Amino acid sequence: MEINPSGFYEILSPRCAVLISTVDKEGRANAAPFSFVTPVSSNPPLLLYASAPHRHTLANTRETGDFVLNIVPEGLLDKLWACSQALPKGVSEIEKAGLTERKSQKVKSPSIEDCVGWIECQLEFEKEAGDHILVVGRVVHAECKDEFMVKGEFDVSRAKPVMHIRGRRFVVAERVVTATVD
Ligand SMILES: Cc1cc2nc3c(=O)[nH]c(=O)nc-3n(C[C@H](O)[C@H](O)[C@H](O)COP(=O)(O)O)c2cc1C
Repeated sequence: MEINPSGFYEILSPRCAVLISTVDKEGRANAAPFSFVTPVSSNPPLLLYASAPHRHTLANTRETGDFVLNIVPEGLLDKLWACSQALPKGVSEIEKAGLTERKSQKVKSPSIEDCVGWIECQLEFEKEAGDHILVVGRVVHAECKDEFMVKGEFDVSRAKPVMHIRGRRFVVAERVVTATVD
């Protein structure tokens, strides 16, 4: 079956669905789900999120120069969804969704305590790409709750991170397979 090119990302599934938390210059927190997110470099550590132009997340990233990617477990799916509601700028989706703010280590943007892990970033640069803006951030601190790290490895079966397909459809990642050939 042919897929409409503008919906190609549906078969590029599942993609990690994170909550991006930010703060504006008045110190008001914001959080929104994003799934157009990818690592781009490990040294230096860079990642990007792609944002439609009018997102508060993008405005806040520009205002304060940083943002946090929060890794969302299955149990928070409905709260992630609640954070996708368009609220007036300055109204915190974190509070509205019943999530808890946590002070970040290296950036002004808060983290979300209820999440599995946190990737704190400073804005490196942005670049327009089609109908989105690519926001490239440098990772300045990354942390995972101890219970989800086993023998130094991220334990997906415990963390059960949510991944996005499209619309309200998600995948919960929990089965790890290992390549066996040399
Ligand atoms: C699972 C999911 C993934 C999303 N991914 C993106 C994305 O990658 N880029 C984007 O611009 N909007 C994305 N959205 C839409 C925003 O989350 C939504 O418009 C939100 O209200 C933006 O909030 P903000 O204006 O506070 O930043 C996504 C929504 C959902 C539910």
